[in-house]
Amino acid sequence: MLIAVCPGSFDPVTNGHLDIISRGAKIFDKVIVAVLNNSSKKALFSVEERISLLQEVTSGLANVEIDSFDGLLMDYMRSKQAQVVIRGLRAVSDFEYEMQIAAMNRKLNDEVETFFVMTNNRYSFLSSSIVKEVARYQASVADLVPPAVEQALREKFAQA
Ligand code: PNS
Repeated sequence: MLIAVCPGSFDPVTNGHLDIISRGAKIFDKVIVAVLNNSSKKALFSVEERISLLQEVTSGLANVEIDSFDGLLMDYMRSKQAQVVIRGLRAVSDFEYEMQIAAMNRKLNDEVETFFVMTNNRYSFLSSSIVKEVARYQASVADLVPPAVEQALREKFAQA
C-alpha cells in the first residue's frame, strides 16, 4: 500500500491545496494531509480549526485522512509508514524553497520520495497568505477557497 503525506500549514486550506490533495488521492492508495503544529509560527486558525476545515472539504475523498504533526516531517513519515511526500509547485518562485526542503528530507531519510505536482494554472497565484489578506478587508474569496473556508474567514475577521 502506497501511503503519501501532504504536509503544510493549511492556514487555511485553499482551492489550490484541494486541487493537489484530490489529484494525489487519485494516484496513491492513501493520502494523509498533515497540518504542521508549529507554535512559533503565528497562525490565523488554530490547528484544531484547520483540521476541522480540512475534514469538511475533503469529506468526499474516501482515501484522504487529516492529521497533525510536530517535529520533523521525516519522523512523522516513519511513524505512518508513509513512502511519499506530496508538494504542489505553483511557479518558479516555489522551486528553490521546495528543492531545499526536499534535499534536507532526502538527507534525513533517503527512502522517502518527494512527489511534486504542478498546480492547476487557475491557482498558480494563490496562497493562504493572499487569501487572508483579501478576506481581512471583506473582499470576496469565493473562487479561491471552498465555501466552508470562506464562511470561517468571514467569522474570523468579524471577531477581529
Ligand atoms: O505549507 P508550508 O508552510 O510551506 O509547509 C512547510 C512544511 C510543513 C512542509 C515544512 O516546514 C516541514 O515539513 N516542517 C517540518 C519540520 C521539518 O521536517 N524540517 C526539515 C525539512 S526542512
